[in-house]
Amino acid sequence: MRDAAIAAFEAATDLDELKQARLDHAGDRSPIALANREIGALPPQARKEAGARIGKARGAINKALAERQAVLEVEHEERMLVTETVDVSLPTARRRRGSRHPLTMQSEVIADVFVAMGWEIAEGPMVEAEWLNFDALNLGADHPARTMQDTFWTVPAENHVVLRTHTSPVQARTMLTRKPPIYVACPGRVFRTDEYDATHSPMFHQVEGLVVDEGITMAHLKGSLDHLATALYGEGITTRFRPSYFPFTEPSAEVDLRCFVCRGENSDECRTCRGEGWIEWGGCGVVNPRVLIACGIDPEVYSGFAFGFGIDRTFMFRHGLDDLRPLFEGDVRFSAAFGTEI
Ligand code: PHE
Repeated sequence: MRDAAIAAFEAATDLDELKQARLDHAGDRSPIALANREIGALPPQARKEAGARIGKARGAINKALAERQAVLEVEHEERMLVTETVDVSLPTARRRRGSRHPLTMQSEVIADVFVAMGWEIAEGPMVEAEWLNFDALNLGADHPARTMQDTFWTVPAENHVVLRTHTSPVQARTMLTRKPPIYVACPGRVFRTDEYDATHSPMFHQVEGLVVDEGITMAHLKGSLDHLATALYGEGITTRFRPSYFPFTEPSAEVDLRCFVCRGENSDECRTCRGEGWIEWGGCGVVNPRVLIACGIDPEVYSGFAFGFGIDRTFMFRHGLDDLRPLFEGDVRFSAAFGTEI
């Protein structure tokens, strides 16, 4: 019995076979277990001797089992190490990597130009107090120019909270919390109840520039915008101001860029400027003294300029796109087409 068991354990080549051998030779129904059970049926004088013999045999069987178990476990371990090795150099069916959004990159490129001029970058909330989005900017409740900006109101209306219609409330926030000199740029998302089409979206991106310091004039504004335009569109780009109106600036202007595709020549065929020779880039002006007062800055000492332009538009102009929708539809192939440099 003992020898048969030991031989069976030796013959087992892996842990599964050993398990079977254990059940056969050391389990409850194995010959040795049955023999053990029969001891009780023996005459008393034979029991002691039989018990000792069977006990010894069981000891030997268990020892052989444990030894074989240890050997096979080591072998199993070694086999696993070999068969489960991962070859990290093998090519795999990789998932396509995602891509940074071109507008994120465009915002960073714009922010870098400001930072290089020594300006700070400021951000504000997209859900904004009506007072900061409008009143602080000289757009009181009855101001007709409020209708220029088709506003998303949050409910209940008594809370006076809007989705900001422009980045200009960040100007107000900055002036309320900081003393001049102020040189800040505020990029961010803005919202208007515009119908979604090739050139409009209810959510788009603007960057606001604000300078408040002693002796600031419209000339500083023009110089800063010229510098920005050159940095973003390349040497030789021209800007022009057209008189305009914003409640928060006086005087105010629209700023246009000389069309860098047709440069104003043969403009009739140009898709970028649609025959105008110029493309509209943003709004700007000298900060209205009423805004300075609302924000606790003395207009006798300080003056400033502000401007705002579209980040999406800037991106579209730079890449000759005439439909902004792909920018907002989340197709990674569109983003990936622009790579990591824009
Ligand atoms: N906030 C204006 C707009 O969204 C742009 C602007 C900013 C104009 C700063 C003047 C000064 O239309």
